[in-house]
Amino acid sequence: MGIFDERVVVITGAARGLGRDYARYFAQDGASVVLADVKDTAAAAAEVAAASPSGAHCRGLAVDVTSRASVEAMARQVREEFGRLDVLINNAGLWRGLADAKLLNCPDEIWDAAWGVNVTGSLRCFQAAVPLMAERGWGRIVNISSMASRSGSDAYGLTKSTVENMTRGMAKEAGPFGVTVNCIAPGISAFEAAGSQLANADAVVAGNVIKRFGTSRDLYAAMTYLCQPSGDWVTGQVLRVDGGAGLA
Ligand SMILES: NC(=O)c1ccc[n+]([C@@H]2O[C@H](COP(=O)([O-])OP(=O)(O)OC[C@H]3O[C@@H](n4cnc5c(N)ncnc54)[C@H](O)[C@@H]3O)[C@@H](O)[C@H]2O)c1
Repeated sequence: MGIFDERVVVITGAARGLGRDYARYFAQDGASVVLADVKDTAAAAAEVAAASPSGAHCRGLAVDVTSRASVEAMARQVREEFGRLDVLINNAGLWRGLADAKLLNCPDEIWDAAWGVNVTGSLRCFQAAVPLMAERGWGRIVNISSMASRSGSDAYGLTKSTVENMTRGMAKEAGPFGVTVNCIAPGISAFEAAGSQLANADAVVAGNVIKRFGTSRDLYAAMTYLCQPSGDWVTGQVLRVDGGAGLA
C-alpha cells in the first residue's frame, strides 16, 4: 500500500529538476502522475513509470502554464484519461538568472516571463484544477515559492512573494469545494541543478541554521504532509523548507 494509492497528481515543470523528482516520489508512493511541462516530458514520464514498483500510470503532457488554452486542454485530458484530479503541484517556475535582474534596469522580457510563469501560470493551473477536484469534493494544491520571496529587490523574489500571498486568496476560494491550498518555500535545493548556478552558494549555506543545501526529498516530505488526509485542516499556509535560511 502506498500513501498516494488511487490518487491522480499533476506536477507542472516536471520535465527536469525538482518537479521530475517529485513525480518519481509520488509514483513510488502509489499515485498516477501527470508530468506537465513546456519541454518534452516523454523521457521523464518513462523514467518515472519504470522506477515505480507498481508500474504507475504516468503521462507526460506538453503544457505551457502561461496559456489558458493549454492549461484547459491539460485539464480535459486529465479528466478523459484519469477521471479525476486529487493533487496539483504548481512547480513550474523561472528562476535561472532572474535574481540578477534588479529593478532599475530589469529587462522587460525577464520581468514579463517571470510574472507569466511564476504567478499567472500558477493561477491558470489553480483555475483549471479546482473544478475537477470539486467534482469529488476533495483536492490538494501546493504552490511553490522560494526563500527568495523575502527579497523585494528583483523580479524573482517579487513573483514568489506574490505566490505566497495568492495562496491565501486561493485557499479562501477553494476551501468550500474541499480543496486546500498551501505553499512550500524551498531554500536552495538539489545543488547540481541550483547551487552550481550561484556565485554565492557558499555564503547561502553559511546563512542556513542547518549547514547544507536542501534535497528534493526534504521538499517532498513537506508535500506528503500537506497532501494526505492528515493535512485536512491546514490551508492558506506557507511552509518554509530551507534549513532555517537567513536565521544563522
Ligand atoms: N532549485 C532550487 O533550489 C529552488 C529553490 C527555491 C524554489 N525553487 C522553485 O522550485 C521550482 C522548480 O525549480 P527547479 O530548480 O527544479 O527548476 P528547473 O528550471 O530545473 O525546472 C523548471 C521546469 O519548469 C518548466 N517550465 C518553465 N516554464 C514553463 C511553462 N511556461 N509551462 C510549463 N513548464 C514550464 C521548465 O521547462 C522546467 O522543466 C521553481 O518554481 C523554482 O522557482 C527552486
